[in-house]
Amino acid sequence: MERKTRTISQEELQLQREYCGRIAALWRERGRTPKAFVDTYGCQQNEADSEQIRGMLRESGYEISDTEEGADAVVINTCAIREHAEQRVYGNVGALVHTKRRHPDQKIFICGCMMGQEHALERIRKSYLYVDGAFNPHALWRFPELLYTALTGKKRVFLKEDCDGVIAEGIPAVRSNTLKAWVSVMYGCNNFCAYCIVPYVRGRERSRRPEEIVREVEGVIAAGYKDITLLGQNVNSYGKDLDEGVDFSDLLARLAELDGDFLLRFMTSHPRDAGEKLFRTMAKYPKIAKQLHLPFQSGNDRILRAMNRHYDLARYRELVRQAREAMPELVLTSDVIVGFPGETAEEFEDTMRLIEEVRYDALFTFIFSPRRGTPAAEMDDPTPKEEKNRRFDRLVDLQNRISQELHRDYIGKTVSVLVDGKEEGGLLTARTQGGRLVRFAGDAELIGRFLQIKITDATTWSLVGEIG
Ligand code: SAH
Ligand code: SF4
Ligand code: F3S
Repeated sequence: MERKTRTISQEELQLQREYCGRIAALWRERGRTPKAFVDTYGCQQNEADSEQIRGMLRESGYEISDTEEGADAVVINTCAIREHAEQRVYGNVGALVHTKRRHPDQKIFICGCMMGQEHALERIRKSYLYVDGAFNPHALWRFPELLYTALTGKKRVFLKEDCDGVIAEGIPAVRSNTLKAWVSVMYGCNNFCAYCIVPYVRGRERSRRPEEIVREVEGVIAAGYKDITLLGQNVNSYGKDLDEGVDFSDLLARLAELDGDFLLRFMTSHPRDAGEKLFRTMAKYPKIAKQLHLPFQSGNDRILRAMNRHYDLARYRELVRQAREAMPELVLTSDVIVGFPGETAEEFEDTMRLIEEVRYDALFTFIFSPRRGTPAAEMDDPTPKEEKNRRFDRLVDLQNRISQELHRDYIGKTVSVLVDGKEEGGLLTARTQGGRLVRFAGDAELIGRFLQIKITDATTWSLVGEIG
Protein backbone atom coordinates (compact mmCIF):
# COMPACT_ATOMS: atom_id res chain seq x y z
CA MET A 1 0.00 0.00 0.00
CA GLU A 2 1.24 3.49 -0.75
CA ARG A 3 2.29 5.26 2.41
CA LYS A 4 0.63 8.68 2.54
CA THR A 5 1.93 9.57 5.96
CA ARG A 6 4.11 12.63 6.09
CA THR A 7 7.14 12.12 8.29
CA ILE A 8 8.35 15.40 9.70
CA SER A 9 11.90 15.90 8.49
CA GLN A 10 14.88 16.27 10.80
CA GLU A 11 15.39 19.81 9.44
CA GLU A 12 11.87 20.78 10.45
CA LEU A 13 12.38 19.30 13.91
CA GLN A 14 15.76 20.99 14.19
CA LEU A 15 14.05 24.31 13.57
CA GLN A 16 11.69 23.57 16.47
CA ARG A 17 14.67 22.76 18.69
CA GLU A 18 16.11 26.13 17.74
CA TYR A 19 12.89 27.78 18.91
CA CYS A 20 13.33 25.96 22.25
CA GLY A 21 16.86 27.40 22.45
CA ARG A 22 15.61 30.91 21.71
CA ILE A 23 12.89 30.67 24.35
CA ALA A 24 15.41 29.44 26.92
CA ALA A 25 17.72 32.36 26.03
CA LEU A 26 14.83 34.77 26.43
CA TRP A 27 14.21 33.55 29.98
CA ARG A 28 17.90 33.69 30.82
CA GLU A 29 17.83 37.35 29.82
CA ARG A 30 14.84 37.87 32.08
CA GLY A 31 16.90 36.32 34.83
CA ARG A 32 14.57 33.62 36.13
CA THR A 33 13.42 30.06 35.55
CA PRO A 34 9.88 30.00 34.14
CA LYS A 35 7.24 27.50 35.28
CA ALA A 36 4.83 25.51 33.11
CA PHE A 37 1.70 23.52 33.89
CA VAL A 38 0.25 20.87 31.56
CA ASP A 39 -3.24 19.56 32.28
CA THR A 40 -4.36 16.37 30.53
CA TYR A 41 -7.86 15.04 29.75
CA GLY A 42 -8.80 11.82 28.00
CA CYS A 43 -6.90 8.65 27.24
CA GLN A 44 -3.30 7.43 27.48
CA GLN A 45 -2.63 8.74 23.99
CA ASN A 46 -3.14 12.21 25.39
CA GLU A 47 -0.99 11.38 28.43
CA ALA A 48 1.78 10.38 26.02
CA ASP A 49 1.34 13.63 24.04
CA SER A 50 1.47 15.64 27.27
CA GLU A 51 4.77 14.00 28.14
CA GLN A 52 6.14 15.31 24.85
CA ILE A 53 4.72 18.77 25.51
CA ARG A 54 6.52 18.73 28.86
CA GLY A 55 9.65 17.56 27.05
CA MET A 56 9.51 20.55 24.68
CA LEU A 57 8.82 22.91 27.61
CA ARG A 58 11.79 21.58 29.51
CA GLU A 59 14.02 22.09 26.47
CA SER A 60 12.75 25.66 26.42
CA GLY A 61 14.00 26.19 29.95
CA TYR A 62 10.73 25.65 31.83
CA GLU A 63 10.38 23.90 35.15
CA ILE A 64 7.29 21.68 35.27
CA SER A 65 4.81 22.77 37.93
CA ASP A 66 1.72 21.00 39.26
CA THR A 67 -0.57 24.02 39.31
CA GLU A 68 -1.73 26.69 36.89
CA GLU A 69 -1.42 29.32 39.64
CA GLY A 70 1.63 31.44 38.86
CA ALA A 71 2.65 29.33 35.88
CA ASP A 72 4.24 31.22 32.96
CA ALA A 73 2.82 28.72 30.49
CA VAL A 74 -0.38 26.67 30.81
CA VAL A 75 -1.23 23.95 28.31
CA ILE A 76 -4.61 22.21 28.41
CA ASN A 77 -4.55 18.95 26.45
CA THR A 78 -8.20 18.20 25.71
CA CYS A 79 -10.40 15.19 24.92
CA ALA A 80 -13.46 15.16 22.64
CA ILE A 81 -14.74 11.63 23.19
CA ARG A 82 -17.92 12.58 25.08
CA GLU A 83 -19.82 15.77 25.72
CA HIS A 84 -19.01 15.63 29.43
CA ALA A 85 -15.25 15.69 28.70
CA GLU A 86 -15.72 18.81 26.58
CA GLN A 87 -17.87 20.58 29.17
CA ARG A 88 -15.18 20.09 31.81
CA VAL A 89 -12.60 21.60 29.48
CA TYR A 90 -14.75 24.69 28.75
CA GLY A 91 -15.34 25.09 32.49
CA ASN A 92 -11.66 24.86 33.36
CA VAL A 93 -10.51 27.07 30.51
CA GLY A 94 -13.12 29.59 31.73
CA ALA A 95 -11.59 29.54 35.20
CA LEU A 96 -8.14 30.41 33.81
CA VAL A 97 -9.31 33.99 33.32
CA HIS A 98 -8.67 34.48 37.04
CA THR A 99 -5.18 32.96 37.15
CA LYS A 100 -4.24 35.08 34.16
CA ARG A 101 -5.57 38.22 35.84
CA ARG A 102 -3.23 37.54 38.74
CA HIS A 103 -0.36 36.76 36.36
CA PRO A 104 -0.98 38.79 33.16
CA ASP A 105 2.09 37.48 31.33
CA GLN A 106 0.83 33.92 31.58
CA LYS A 107 0.61 32.22 28.15
CA ILE A 108 -2.33 29.82 27.75
CA PHE A 109 -2.58 27.14 25.04
CA ILE A 110 -5.32 24.65 24.30
CA CYS A 111 -4.47 21.51 22.33
CA GLY A 112 -5.58 17.90 21.94
CA CYS A 113 -8.53 16.23 20.28
CA MET A 114 -11.11 18.98 20.91
CA MET A 115 -8.94 21.32 18.87
CA GLY A 116 -9.17 18.89 15.97
CA GLN A 117 -12.79 20.05 15.62
CA GLU A 118 -12.98 23.38 13.89
CA HIS A 119 -16.09 24.48 15.79
CA ALA A 120 -14.39 23.95 19.15
CA LEU A 121 -11.21 25.72 18.06
CA GLU A 122 -13.28 28.65 16.80
CA ARG A 123 -15.23 28.81 20.05
CA ILE A 124 -11.98 29.04 22.00
CA ARG A 125 -10.62 31.69 19.63
CA LYS A 126 -13.74 33.85 19.71
CA SER A 127 -15.00 33.46 23.27
CA TYR A 128 -11.84 33.03 25.34
CA LEU A 129 -9.78 36.03 24.33
CA TYR A 130 -7.17 35.48 27.02
CA VAL A 131 -6.18 32.13 25.44
CA ASP A 132 -2.98 32.74 23.46
CA GLY A 133 -3.15 29.84 21.05
CA ALA A 134 -4.52 26.46 20.09
CA PHE A 135 -3.37 23.54 17.97
CA ASN A 136 -4.65 20.09 17.10
CA PRO A 137 -2.81 16.77 17.68
CA HIS A 138 -1.19 16.94 14.23
CA ALA A 139 0.59 20.17 15.10
CA LEU A 140 2.01 19.01 18.43
CA TRP A 141 5.58 19.09 17.13
CA ARG A 142 5.20 22.79 16.27
CA PHE A 143 4.49 23.81 19.86
CA PRO A 144 7.92 25.49 20.42
CA GLU A 145 7.31 27.80 17.44
CA LEU A 146 3.87 28.66 18.77
CA LEU A 147 5.17 29.41 22.25
CA TYR A 148 7.93 31.56 20.84
CA THR A 149 5.44 33.57 18.75
CA ALA A 150 3.21 34.09 21.77
CA LEU A 151 6.16 35.23 23.89
CA THR A 152 7.66 37.61 21.34
CA GLY A 153 5.01 38.60 18.84
CA LYS A 154 2.20 39.35 21.30
CA LYS A 155 0.06 37.59 18.72
CA ARG A 156 -2.55 34.87 19.24
CA VAL A 157 -1.91 31.79 17.08
CA PHE A 158 -4.54 29.21 16.14
CA LEU A 159 -3.19 26.38 13.98
CA LYS A 160 -5.62 24.37 11.90
CA GLU A 161 -3.18 21.72 10.73
CA ASP A 162 -4.35 19.28 8.09
CA CYS A 163 -5.80 16.27 9.89
CA ASP A 164 -4.43 13.64 7.50
CA GLY A 165 -1.69 13.11 9.96
CA VAL A 166 2.01 13.16 10.40
CA ILE A 167 4.65 11.29 12.32
CA ALA A 168 7.30 13.23 14.18
CA GLU A 169 10.13 11.17 15.66
CA GLY A 170 12.53 12.20 18.36
CA ILE A 171 10.46 14.76 20.30
CA PRO A 172 11.84 14.68 23.86
CA ALA A 173 9.50 13.43 26.61
CA VAL A 174 9.32 14.12 30.32
CA ARG A 175 7.64 10.97 31.63
CA SER A 176 5.36 11.57 34.56
CA ASN A 177 5.76 8.21 36.27
CA THR A 178 9.02 6.58 37.30
CA LEU A 179 7.97 2.97 36.58
CA LYS A 180 5.31 3.22 33.85
CA ALA A 181 6.06 4.42 30.33
CA TRP A 182 3.71 4.96 27.37
CA VAL A 183 5.03 4.25 23.89
CA SER A 184 2.85 5.04 20.87
CA VAL A 185 3.26 2.47 18.13
CA MET A 186 0.78 4.11 15.80
CA TYR A 187 -1.49 7.13 15.54
CA GLY A 188 -4.99 7.78 14.25
CA CYS A 189 -7.78 5.38 13.35
CA ASN A 190 -9.43 4.15 10.16
CA ASN A 191 -12.43 2.41 11.66
CA PHE A 192 -15.03 5.16 11.79
CA CYS A 193 -17.25 3.51 14.38
CA ALA A 194 -20.52 5.38 13.92
CA TYR A 195 -20.43 7.05 17.35
CA CYS A 196 -16.75 7.99 17.52
CA ILE A 197 -14.97 11.29 16.95
CA VAL A 198 -11.40 9.91 17.10
CA PRO A 199 -10.84 9.31 13.34
CA TYR A 200 -11.93 12.90 12.63
CA VAL A 201 -9.59 14.50 15.16
CA ARG A 202 -6.61 12.14 15.04
CA GLY A 203 -6.62 11.38 11.34
CA ARG A 204 -5.82 8.23 9.40
CA GLU A 205 -4.02 5.24 10.83
CA ARG A 206 -0.23 5.46 10.57
CA SER A 207 2.39 3.21 12.09
CA ARG A 208 5.79 4.18 13.41
CA ARG A 209 8.68 2.26 11.91
CA PRO A 210 9.54 -0.79 14.03
CA GLU A 211 13.16 0.32 14.45
CA GLU A 212 12.01 3.65 15.93
CA ILE A 213 9.77 1.82 18.40
CA VAL A 214 12.50 -0.64 19.34
CA ARG A 215 14.89 2.26 19.92
CA GLU A 216 12.39 4.06 22.18
CA VAL A 217 11.57 0.91 24.15
CA GLU A 218 15.28 0.13 24.61
CA GLY A 219 15.65 3.67 25.91
CA VAL A 220 12.88 3.38 28.49
CA ILE A 221 14.17 -0.02 29.65
CA ALA A 222 17.66 1.45 30.06
CA ALA A 223 16.15 4.36 32.01
CA GLY A 224 14.67 1.87 34.49
CA TYR A 225 10.99 1.79 33.45
CA LYS A 226 9.35 -1.53 34.26
CA ASP A 227 5.80 -1.31 32.97
CA ILE A 228 5.66 -0.36 29.30
CA THR A 229 2.33 0.19 27.53
CA LEU A 230 2.25 0.22 23.74
CA LEU A 231 -0.45 2.59 22.52
CA GLY A 232 -2.68 2.78 19.49
CA GLN A 233 -6.43 3.11 18.89
CA ASN A 234 -6.35 -0.27 17.18
CA VAL A 235 -2.93 -1.81 17.72
CA ASN A 236 -3.85 -4.96 15.82
CA SER A 237 -3.75 -3.14 12.53
CA TYR A 238 -0.19 -2.00 13.25
CA GLY A 239 2.08 -2.23 10.21
CA LYS A 240 -0.63 -2.44 7.55
CA ASP A 241 0.49 0.92 6.17
CA LEU A 242 4.19 -0.01 6.24
CA ASP A 243 6.14 -1.96 3.66
CA GLU A 244 8.10 -3.98 6.19
CA GLY A 245 6.00 -7.13 6.55
CA VAL A 246 5.81 -6.61 10.31
CA ASP A 247 2.45 -6.96 12.04
CA PHE A 248 1.61 -6.18 15.67
CA SER A 249 2.39 -9.69 16.91
CA ASP A 250 5.81 -9.56 15.22
CA LEU A 251 6.49 -6.20 16.83
CA LEU A 252 5.42 -7.48 20.26
CA ALA A 253 7.67 -10.51 19.93
CA ARG A 254 10.62 -8.35 18.92
CA LEU A 255 10.13 -6.11 21.96
CA ALA A 256 9.52 -9.02 24.34
CA GLU A 257 12.89 -10.46 23.31
CA LEU A 258 14.78 -7.36 24.43
CA ASP A 259 17.03 -7.78 27.47
CA GLY A 260 15.96 -6.37 30.81
CA ASP A 261 13.46 -6.71 33.58
CA PHE A 262 10.16 -5.26 32.30
CA LEU A 263 6.55 -6.02 31.44
CA LEU A 264 4.91 -5.09 28.15
CA ARG A 265 1.21 -4.34 27.73
CA PHE A 266 -0.80 -2.70 24.99
CA MET A 267 -4.10 -1.10 24.17
CA THR A 268 -6.49 -1.07 22.43
CA SER A 269 -7.30 -4.26 20.53
CA HIS A 270 -10.18 -4.07 18.09
CA PRO A 271 -12.01 -7.42 17.84
CA ARG A 272 -12.03 -7.02 14.08
CA ASP A 273 -8.24 -7.41 13.81
CA ALA A 274 -7.27 -9.42 16.91
CA GLY A 275 -6.68 -13.14 16.49
CA GLU A 276 -4.86 -16.33 17.36
CA LYS A 277 -1.42 -15.15 16.30
CA LEU A 278 -1.66 -12.33 18.84
CA PHE A 279 -2.81 -14.66 21.62
CA ARG A 280 -0.07 -17.18 20.88
CA THR A 281 2.54 -14.42 21.02
CA MET A 282 1.16 -13.14 24.33
CA ALA A 283 1.19 -16.64 25.77
CA LYS A 284 4.73 -17.37 24.61
CA TYR A 285 6.58 -14.46 26.24
CA PRO A 286 6.78 -14.05 30.02
CA LYS A 287 7.49 -10.34 29.50
CA ILE A 288 4.05 -9.72 27.95
CA ALA A 289 1.29 -9.11 30.53
CA LYS A 290 -1.55 -11.59 30.33
CA GLN A 291 -4.05 -8.79 29.99
CA LEU A 292 -6.29 -7.95 27.07
CA HIS A 293 -8.55 -4.96 26.61
CA LEU A 294 -11.05 -6.10 23.99
CA PRO A 295 -13.96 -3.64 23.69
CA PHE A 296 -17.24 -5.21 22.59
CA GLN A 297 -19.42 -2.04 22.79
CA SER A 298 -22.72 -3.94 22.54
CA GLY A 299 -23.99 -7.49 22.97
CA ASN A 300 -26.43 -7.23 20.08
CA ASP A 301 -25.64 -7.89 16.41
CA ARG A 302 -28.03 -5.28 15.02
CA ILE A 303 -26.47 -2.60 17.21
CA LEU A 304 -22.94 -3.75 16.33
CA ARG A 305 -23.81 -3.34 12.65
CA ALA A 306 -25.30 0.10 13.26
CA MET A 307 -22.10 0.98 15.13
CA ASN A 308 -20.04 -0.08 12.09
CA ARG A 309 -17.91 -2.39 14.23
CA HIS A 310 -17.24 -5.07 11.58
CA TYR A 311 -17.65 -8.13 13.83
CA ASP A 312 -20.59 -10.03 15.23
CA LEU A 313 -21.15 -11.75 18.56
CA ALA A 314 -20.21 -15.16 17.23
CA ARG A 315 -16.82 -13.83 16.19
CA TYR A 316 -16.39 -11.96 19.48
CA ARG A 317 -17.20 -15.05 21.56
CA GLU A 318 -14.76 -17.09 19.49
CA LEU A 319 -12.00 -14.55 20.14
CA VAL A 320 -12.61 -14.68 23.90
CA ARG A 321 -12.53 -18.47 23.75
CA GLN A 322 -9.26 -18.51 21.81
CA ALA A 323 -7.64 -15.93 24.08
CA ARG A 324 -8.59 -17.82 27.24
CA GLU A 325 -7.52 -21.11 25.75
CA ALA A 326 -4.08 -19.66 25.00
CA MET A 327 -3.86 -17.91 28.39
CA PRO A 328 -6.00 -19.47 31.11
CA GLU A 329 -4.89 -16.77 33.58
CA LEU A 330 -5.90 -13.93 31.19
CA VAL A 331 -7.31 -10.72 32.70
CA LEU A 332 -9.95 -9.51 30.27
CA THR A 333 -11.36 -5.98 30.24
CA SER A 334 -13.67 -4.17 27.85
CA ASP A 335 -15.60 -1.02 26.90
CA VAL A 336 -19.36 -0.91 26.48
CA ILE A 337 -21.78 1.79 25.36
CA VAL A 338 -25.30 1.98 26.78
CA GLY A 339 -28.11 3.71 24.90
CA PHE A 340 -26.73 3.79 21.36
CA PRO A 341 -29.45 5.43 19.18
CA GLY A 342 -32.36 3.04 18.77
CA GLU A 343 -31.11 0.45 21.28
CA THR A 344 -34.25 -1.32 22.52
CA ALA A 345 -34.79 -2.74 26.01
CA GLU A 346 -34.34 -6.25 24.57
CA GLU A 347 -31.13 -5.31 22.75
CA PHE A 348 -29.80 -3.94 26.00
CA GLU A 349 -30.60 -7.28 27.70
CA ASP A 350 -28.29 -8.92 25.11
CA THR A 351 -25.48 -6.73 26.42
CA MET A 352 -26.27 -7.80 30.00
CA ARG A 353 -26.25 -11.45 28.92
CA LEU A 354 -22.85 -11.13 27.26
CA ILE A 355 -21.38 -9.58 30.41
CA GLU A 356 -22.79 -12.42 32.54
CA GLU A 357 -21.39 -14.93 30.11
CA VAL A 358 -17.87 -13.52 29.62
CA ARG A 359 -17.36 -12.28 33.20
CA TYR A 360 -14.93 -9.43 32.56
CA ASP A 361 -12.38 -8.50 35.19
CA ALA A 362 -13.32 -4.86 34.64
CA LEU A 363 -15.54 -2.86 32.31
CA PHE A 364 -15.40 0.76 31.22
CA THR A 365 -19.03 1.76 30.79
CA PHE A 366 -20.30 4.78 28.87
CA ILE A 367 -23.66 6.30 28.03
CA PHE A 368 -23.85 7.20 24.35
CA SER A 369 -22.93 10.82 23.76
CA PRO A 370 -23.69 12.31 20.32
CA ARG A 371 -20.60 13.82 18.67
CA ARG A 372 -21.10 16.44 16.00
CA GLY A 373 -20.12 15.18 12.53
CA THR A 374 -20.41 11.46 13.32
CA PRO A 375 -23.18 9.33 11.71
CA ALA A 376 -24.66 8.28 15.08
CA ALA A 377 -25.32 11.89 16.01
CA GLU A 378 -27.84 12.00 13.15
CA MET A 379 -29.65 8.77 14.07
CA ASP A 380 -33.09 8.68 15.68
CA ASP A 381 -32.72 8.30 19.40
CA PRO A 382 -36.15 7.91 20.98
CA THR A 383 -35.01 6.39 24.31
CA PRO A 384 -35.39 8.92 27.15
CA LYS A 385 -32.34 9.88 29.18
CA GLU A 386 -33.85 8.45 32.39
CA GLU A 387 -34.25 5.06 30.74
CA LYS A 388 -30.63 5.13 29.57
CA ASN A 389 -29.55 6.01 33.10
CA ARG A 390 -31.54 3.07 34.48
CA ARG A 391 -29.86 0.69 31.99
CA PHE A 392 -26.48 2.12 32.85
CA ASP A 393 -27.04 1.65 36.61
CA ARG A 394 -28.12 -1.96 36.13
CA LEU A 395 -25.07 -2.69 34.03
CA VAL A 396 -22.72 -1.11 36.58
CA ASP A 397 -24.35 -3.12 39.40
CA LEU A 398 -23.93 -6.33 37.46
CA GLN A 399 -20.27 -5.64 36.72
CA ASN A 400 -19.55 -4.67 40.35
CA ARG A 401 -20.97 -7.98 41.49
CA ILE A 402 -18.84 -9.90 38.96
CA SER A 403 -15.68 -7.92 39.78
CA GLN A 404 -16.11 -8.64 43.48
CA GLU A 405 -16.67 -12.34 42.88
CA LEU A 406 -13.55 -12.52 40.72
CA HIS A 407 -11.67 -10.59 43.39
CA ARG A 408 -12.51 -13.15 46.04
CA ASP A 409 -11.29 -15.94 43.73
CA TYR A 410 -7.76 -14.58 44.14
CA ILE A 411 -7.56 -15.64 47.80
CA GLY A 412 -5.04 -18.46 48.16
CA LYS A 413 -3.43 -17.81 44.76
CA THR A 414 0.11 -16.59 44.15
CA VAL A 415 0.39 -13.73 41.65
CA SER A 416 3.23 -11.83 40.01
CA VAL A 417 3.23 -8.12 40.88
CA LEU A 418 5.29 -5.00 40.27
CA VAL A 419 5.88 -3.08 43.52
CA ASP A 420 5.11 0.59 42.88
CA GLY A 421 4.95 2.43 46.21
CA LYS A 422 4.66 2.55 49.97
CA GLU A 423 1.62 3.84 51.83
CA GLU A 424 1.60 6.07 54.87
CA GLY A 425 0.46 3.15 56.98
CA GLY A 426 3.65 1.32 56.03
CA LEU A 427 2.33 -1.29 53.60
CA LEU A 428 3.82 -1.63 50.14
CA THR A 429 1.52 -1.27 47.11
CA ALA A 430 1.86 -3.27 43.94
CA ARG A 431 -0.06 -4.08 40.76
CA THR A 432 -0.80 -7.49 39.31
CA GLN A 433 -0.28 -8.07 35.59
CA GLY A 434 -3.96 -7.29 35.14
CA GLY A 435 -3.61 -4.01 37.06
CA ARG A 436 -5.18 -4.96 40.41
CA LEU A 437 -3.96 -3.24 43.55
CA VAL A 438 -2.19 -5.50 46.08
CA ARG A 439 -1.02 -4.44 49.55
CA PHE A 440 1.55 -6.32 51.61
CA ALA A 441 4.24 -5.78 54.25
CA GLY A 442 7.79 -5.30 53.00
CA ASP A 443 10.77 -3.05 52.71
CA ALA A 444 10.68 0.13 50.57
CA GLU A 445 13.76 -1.16 48.75
CA LEU A 446 11.44 -3.53 46.92
CA ILE A 447 9.80 -0.66 44.99
CA GLY A 448 10.41 -1.20 41.28
CA ARG A 449 10.87 -4.96 41.67
CA PHE A 450 8.74 -7.83 40.35
CA LEU A 451 7.70 -10.25 43.11
CA GLN A 452 5.48 -13.26 43.73
CA ILE A 453 2.78 -12.48 46.31
CA LYS A 454 0.44 -14.95 47.96
CA ILE A 455 -3.02 -13.42 48.29
CA THR A 456 -4.51 -13.85 51.75
CA ASP A 457 -7.53 -11.54 51.67
CA ALA A 458 -9.63 -9.41 49.33
CA THR A 459 -11.44 -6.16 50.10
CA THR A 460 -13.77 -4.53 47.58
CA TRP A 461 -11.03 -2.51 45.89
CA SER A 462 -7.78 -4.28 46.68
CA LEU A 463 -6.07 -7.55 47.47
CA VAL A 464 -4.01 -8.22 50.59
CA GLY A 465 -1.07 -10.61 50.52
CA GLU A 466 2.35 -11.62 51.69
CA ILE A 467 5.66 -12.23 49.96
CA GLY A 468 5.38 -15.81 48.76
N1 SAH B 1 -9.96 2.80 19.98
C1 SAH B 1 -10.57 2.28 21.11
C2 SAH B 1 -11.45 3.20 21.88
C3 SAH B 1 -11.17 4.63 22.05
S1 SAH B 1 -12.43 5.55 22.81
C4 SAH B 1 -11.45 1.12 20.66
O1 SAH B 1 -11.96 1.11 19.57
O2 SAH B 1 -11.68 0.27 21.47
C5 SAH B 1 -12.74 4.65 24.30
C6 SAH B 1 -14.17 4.24 24.44
O3 SAH B 1 -15.02 5.34 24.54
C7 SAH B 1 -14.73 3.43 23.30
O4 SAH B 1 -14.35 2.10 23.33
C8 SAH B 1 -16.21 3.60 23.50
O5 SAH B 1 -16.72 2.61 24.38
C9 SAH B 1 -16.32 4.96 24.18
N2 SAH B 1 -16.88 5.97 23.29
C10 SAH B 1 -16.36 6.43 22.14
N3 SAH B 1 -17.18 7.34 21.59
C11 SAH B 1 -18.26 7.44 22.40
C12 SAH B 1 -19.47 8.22 22.35
N4 SAH B 1 -19.73 9.04 21.37
N5 SAH B 1 -20.36 8.05 23.37
C13 SAH B 1 -20.10 7.20 24.38
N6 SAH B 1 -19.00 6.45 24.47
C14 SAH B 1 -18.08 6.56 23.49
FE1 SF4 C 1 -13.17 5.17 17.79
FE2 SF4 C 1 -13.78 2.85 16.69
FE3 SF4 C 1 -11.45 4.01 16.13
FE4 SF4 C 1 -11.88 3.00 18.54
S1 SF4 C 1 -11.80 1.83 16.62
S2 SF4 C 1 -10.99 4.98 18.07
S3 SF4 C 1 -14.05 3.40 18.87
S4 SF4 C 1 -13.48 4.78 15.57
FE1 F3S D 1 -8.17 9.96 23.58
FE2 F3S D 1 -10.18 11.59 24.01
FE3 F3S D 1 -8.64 11.94 21.93
S1 F3S D 1 -10.18 9.44 24.38
S2 F3S D 1 -7.88 9.95 21.37
S3 F3S D 1 -8.05 12.07 24.08
S4 F3S D 1 -10.84 12.16 21.98
